[in-house]
Amino acid sequence: VRCFTVLALESSADDTCAAIVNSDREIVSNVVVKQHSFHEQFGGIHPMHAIWAHQRHMPGAVRKALHDAGMTMNSIDGIAYTRGPGMAGCLSVCSNAAKTLAAATSKPIVGVHHMQAHALMPLLTTPDISFPFLTLLISGGHTLLLLARSWRSFQTLATTPDESIGNAFDKVSKMLKIPWGKLGPGAALEQYCLNDYDQQLPEIIPPLPSGQPGKLAFSYSGLHSGVERYIAVRNGDLDDPTKLALARAFQTAAVGQLEEKLLLALHWCRQNGVVIRDIIVSGGVASNKFLRRRLEFACRDFKFDDAAVRLVSPPQELCTDNAVMIGWASMDRFLAQDYDEYEIETRPKWDI
Ligand code: KG4
Ligand code: ZN
Repeated sequence: VRCFTVLALESSADDTCAAIVNSDREIVSNVVVKQHSFHEQFGGIHPMHAIWAHQRHMPGAVRKALHDAGMTMNSIDGIAYTRGPGMAGCLSVCSNAAKTLAAATSKPIVGVHHMQAHALMPLLTTPDISFPFLTLLISGGHTLLLLARSWRSFQTLATTPDESIGNAFDKVSKMLKIPWGKLGPGAALEQYCLNDYDQQLPEIIPPLPSGQPGKLAFSYSGLHSGVERYIAVRNGDLDDPTKLALARAFQTAAVGQLEEKLLLALHWCRQNGVVIRDIIVSGGVASNKFLRRRLEFACRDFKFDDAAVRLVSPPQELCTDNAVMIGWASMDRFLAQDYDEYEIETRPKWDI
């Protein structure tokens, strides 16, 4: 079979992305234009400005993806884009660009589910993974524990009814007034926790609330308001050691909840006769190194038929939003000639 080359576009949140991937598992080019520092002044993603930024950046991102690959549109066999979920206005930028480009050049399109793409990324980067596997999707939009049975079949084992872990990281980072720089608020908090002071840090009591113990469900709003209260009763006045101790207590509690739920899910799989070899940890928050270490430690003794489970994370730059994952997740549909119509609409809300 001839190698199939996909141009993929992504603009569901605050990054404008274009990439070229092929069915021989090659990442031919990967362009990500970030808006982090720009949104800092608004204290979050400002919807209208995000749309404008996508509109400004998308043409250049597509040109650069082709240029970096040394290709023209003639070498592209199909165009993939993020159909949802995400902010409606943002989604329309990559959707319109992809569909118009495809219509003008008579190429097939596939609209991709953003979270499925996050979940499937490791099948590109780590070829010896096989179904079924567990996926922990932790990003600004989602906190999901999924059982992936095939390319198109995902079962949600745990999700959050309130706030995502990425959101909690972002809000706490802002409450503690940690500067983001180029990192973004979540990564800045992780970095901040690595600070060291000569003084001993105060102990943060009472312990921060964290989810519902024993239940296969996440919850991060309690943890986030726990930090908020802690700061509020001190009139926002924290000295540096207290601020650092609070940041670390938050990060430990946030990750502790993931540890607990992951073990619960492994037990659930065992009880239901599902043999798991791999746990995929992906999404923006998965780039947190403290988190990866803690999860590895938590799972080290869990075995199915005497075989240990393996914790797999895609390379950092493929954990955060990118178009490579969109192109890769579209591949099985392109190869099966299961294309979408040019008329299909975006799906801002879309169950996995
Ligand atoms: O997957 P992603 O890039 O975008 C979507 O939400 O789809 O995830 C972004 C989220 C943000 O909340 C960001 O602050 C968080 O991931 N994040 C981190 C780290 N790097 C990114 N949170 C904690 N530690 C990090 N190192
Ligand atoms: Zn994402």
